[in-house]
Amino acid sequence: MNESWRQRTVAQNVNYPDEEQLNSVVDQLKTLPGLVSHVEIERLREQLAKAADGKAFLLQCGDCAELFSYCNPAQIEAKLKLMLIMSLVIIYGARMPVVRVGRIAGQYAKPRSKPTEIVDTPEGKREVLSFRGDNVNGIALDERQPDPQRLLLAYFYSAATLNYIRSTLASGFADLHAPHLWSFQHVRSERLQAEFERIADAITDSLDFIRTVGADPTGDSNVLNTVDYFTSHEGLMLEYESALTRETPAGVYDLSAHTVWLGDRTRQLDGAHVEFVRGIRNPIGIKVGPSMEPMELVAVLDRVNPTYEKGRVVLISRYGAAKIEALLPGHIRAVNSSPHAGTVVWCCDPMHGNTIQSETHAGLKTRLFSNIVTELVAALRIHAAEGSRLGGVHLELTGDVGVTECMGGSMQLSDSDLARNYQSHCDPRLNYEQSLDIAFILSEVIRAQRLGRTDDASAVLINALGHE
Ligand code: PEP
Ligand code: CO
Repeated sequence: MNESWRQRTVAQNVNYPDEEQLNSVVDQLKTLPGLVSHVEIERLREQLAKAADGKAFLLQCGDCAELFSYCNPAQIEAKLKLMLIMSLVIIYGARMPVVRVGRIAGQYAKPRSKPTEIVDTPEGKREVLSFRGDNVNGIALDERQPDPQRLLLAYFYSAATLNYIRSTLASGFADLHAPHLWSFQHVRSERLQAEFERIADAITDSLDFIRTVGADPTGDSNVLNTVDYFTSHEGLMLEYESALTRETPAGVYDLSAHTVWLGDRTRQLDGAHVEFVRGIRNPIGIKVGPSMEPMELVAVLDRVNPTYEKGRVVLISRYGAAKIEALLPGHIRAVNSSPHAGTVVWCCDPMHGNTIQSETHAGLKTRLFSNIVTELVAALRIHAAEGSRLGGVHLELTGDVGVTECMGGSMQLSDSDLARNYQSHCDPRLNYEQSLDIAFILSEVIRAQRLGRTDDASAVLINALGHE
């Protein structure tokens, strides 16, 4: 099963000039230990099954294209801290556990709309291969030829990143007894500062109360001292994914990450990517864009999850603010009239359908905060109206301070601000404050829904858009 994908068409295929070199890299990858364990993967499946039941909420986020150079303590910690704070804010509003899944420790490969691009060089315009992510080729113009050694580098950078995440969490980074220590100093918005203070105070107060009545939560359990944290990436490079797939007594697992997803460009029913994920027990994300027909969605689910296991599939919808109203209800109804009803986690990716070109900076891609919020809030509302539920959110963000890639949010970035600190080589990410804005909005809307206050949910949206 693990190799049957080779008989299918591989969308977004990478052509390596030297096949022997590729085979030698794949052989080495096959001997290396998995980056995650099948026990952890099963734990994620259980938590996602809860999300499918509306008893947990998935927070999946990180870079669009992670780079090898992001593997340093400062950038890893920044992303981890941001996700911890966001998850706390969501837990507070939703009163549900949050399942944290980073687009990290392996999110190195990118699908591209065009295999080549035209670039300006001192000698004039030149056509070069597109950058496909650090595990395929380099951004520098003289590194655009795919190099299989990069697959091996990707493994070791993933291992180093994951090791740092694990040791940081094991050392008390996520200790809930001191949420105030998750420094908020560089957040410029006083409103965000005050809102987080309020939540941190409430948590400290509740823990005090529990201790006072004699139910000391610190006891033997470490539930308050650390958290589960899972990794994910797009399962694009099948040579890499299959080389890290292992047969265990519990089944076949891709041990490159806890979960991988199929991109909107690699989810063809008869394609190699669907064939590959069919054979592994990891939870699988499937991007659902405007071109997905409702019955095609059910056919993909039949292929990937023929036994209707809960927590196996996360449907990551990404239509764009202008299209979600017309498309999401049809997809929900198709799934709900099939045996897959109730088994999937519906996750909203409000990023990938909302990418536009900057008006003032030629060649820069951006996203409007208002479109991101509008799609997210619409997803919450539509699911509720269809008797379904939104079980998660999928975001592209960075923990690095002062990045200017998306417009709007409480920092009110405009098109002319974009060039100030635009770092991404791929899609525009939410910066630190915009990510917190999203977490607070999400938290408030879920809270309003939970309490049956639909008017409050609309008010949150109007208020959020008022910041533009
Ligand atoms: C992505 O998640 O970075 C991506 C390329 O998304 P999509 O496949 O939905 O376009
Ligand atoms: Co992206």
